[in-house]
Amino acid sequence: MLTYQTRRSILLLFLLLFGMAFVSAANSESADVGNCLLCHKYPGLSRVDEEGRFRLFYVNEDIFDKSVHTRVKCEDCHTDIKKIPHDTPKKVDCFVQCHIVEPSSEQKFSHKEVAKFLAASVHGEVAKQGNPKKHPEDLPSCKDCHDNPLYRPLSFFKRVRPGISETAMGRCRVCHKKDDFIFRFYNHVTTRLHKIRNPKNIAEVCARCHDDPELVKRHDLSTRAAYSYGETFHGKAAHFLDERIPDCLDCHVKRGESVHQMLSHNDPQSITYKTNKAKICANIECHPKASPKLADYKIHAEFNFEQGTAQYYFKIFFIALTGGVLLPMMGIMFLDVLRRLLPNAGLNRKK
Ligand code: HEC
Ligand code: HEC
Ligand code: HEC
Ligand code: HEC
Ligand code: HEC
Ligand code: HEC
Repeated sequence: MLTYQTRRSILLLFLLLFGMAFVSAANSESADVGNCLLCHKYPGLSRVDEEGRFRLFYVNEDIFDKSVHTRVKCEDCHTDIKKIPHDTPKKVDCFVQCHIVEPSSEQKFSHKEVAKFLAASVHGEVAKQGNPKKHPEDLPSCKDCHDNPLYRPLSFFKRVRPGISETAMGRCRVCHKKDDFIFRFYNHVTTRLHKIRNPKNIAEVCARCHDDPELVKRHDLSTRAAYSYGETFHGKAAHFLDERIPDCLDCHVKRGESVHQMLSHNDPQSITYKTNKAKICANIECHPKASPKLADYKIHAEFNFEQGTAQYYFKIFFIALTGGVLLPMMGIMFLDVLRRLLPNAGLNRKK
């Protein structure tokens, strides 16, 4: 049996924990007015669904608070969750208006504008000539490219670039008094002054579709684009997390336009159109002195036997050379180490 004191301390501990949970629920960010995190902050909230998939319903509060949607209420996106236990909810619609007001237009905010850009781009459902495309199911929707991993700890491992210079926030403090305000607006602006994803992450987003050989065939594309990007110097540097080299967006998005306005290289409006593409390379940040000929270099090159025979043999040669030098050298080192560790070892020779 537990003593009275032990029982009392356990009870107190429970009361304390309950109190803390209550206070944190009451204090939590303004976004959580529906107290959704009361349940959803528990990492174990999960089940196996009817189709046998494991579903995790946990939302990490810390990550949610640092995400771009932190000021959006849960119910602004999950509009049809009205009761507990919930009915099976509809998928979240990215175009709903939320309660946030965009200050320059004073209108309620929504992502409808992005939808217009996307519809007019090569990823839109209607072709330039006005006829609907075959296989619209292959085209990306918002959530195909923006799969924010539901604010779960996994994203801790992803590198998220901090604002340009946190120390510069000291300058705002001269005039603005509230750290909250400063942090929010400083972050709001600076995170948008540079890319959020590094070139490797971007290529991974596009690879999901553009490296699918079936999809490439269905849409008459000539290359598995992310794979062929990875074959070139640009892609190799991206693989090693170099952030200065161009990613898909640097070449496929016209300067100053939204990343959602990509066009086909057959469209004369596109920067990848044959008479425009020299401008991509000759960009001041890339190869400012390049002659227009540089752009004739095969940017999406698959160095296989058919498309680049010379490169193919070069590749084979260098693999053989590297292997041929390294492997024997490692073998010799291994034997050398063995002899040093076991100086007296030997086959059972007769003395
Ligand atoms: C009393 C605890 C509780 C509260 C409060 C709560 N939820 Fe849930 N929620 C759950 C549980 C339990 C599940 C898993 C349900 C299941 O097994 O189908 C769930 C599931 C969900 C799902 C996934 C459903 C699916 O099948 O895809 C969403 C989305 C969701 N909740 C959103 C919300 C939102 C938004 C709020 C606030 C308005 C909220 N929840 C408040 C307990 C809660
Ligand atoms: C900006 C919109 C947005 C906000 C704000 C938002 N969610 Fe979600 N949530 C989504 C989307 C998108 C999904 C993916 C499922 C879908 O497409 O409907 C999702 C899925 C979920 C799921 C189901 C996870 C699964 O594996 O099926 C839960 C639970 C959930 N959200 C809870 C919350 C809670 C709790 C909050 C508030 C703290 C919140 N969400 C705020 C957009 C949002
Ligand atoms: C083909 C992939 C793709 C699709 C589809 C897509 N986005 Fe994006 N979106 C991106 C990329 C890439 C970025 C830039 C991210 C970065 O800088 O790292 C971006 C950026 C954004 C931004 C930040 C502002 C900006 O332009 O940089 C918003 C907001 C946004 N997307 C909303 C949407 C919405 C809403 C939809 C659906 C209508 C959508 N996106 C569809 C790839 C996509
Ligand atoms: C020299 C003083 C000063 C400095 C430094 C300063 N601000 Fe301000 N800021 C002001 C004043 C005064 C206003 C209001 C005047 C106006 O609206 O033009 C203002 C307005 C703003 C607003 C608009 C608020 C609203 O509701 O309209 C934002 C956002 C803002 N500042 C952010 C910042 C950030 C972030 C920094 C640091 C990078 C910064 N400010 C540095 C003086 C300053
Ligand atoms: C969900 C699948 C999907 C994703 C994700 C996706 N795309 Fe696409 N993309 C397509 C399809 C399908 C087409 C062909 C459209 C057509 O047939 O008109 C296409 C066409 C294109 C084209 C035009 C090719 C040409 O004809 O010149 C470019 C450029 C492009 N995508 C770039 C990207 C980039 C960059 C990303 C990553 C940010 C990306 N796409 C992500 C499905 C996708
Ligand atoms: C250095 C600039 C550059 C980079 C980086 C780049 N592209 Fe391209 N891409 C081009 C150009 C230019 C074309 C037009 C065809 C040509 O000239 O080779 C093109 C063509 C394409 C096509 C159409 C291929 C066809 O012939 O059907 C797709 C799809 C595509 N790119 C997707 C991507 C994706 C996805 C990425 C990132 C993984 C990417 N591109 C990276 C410049 C680039």
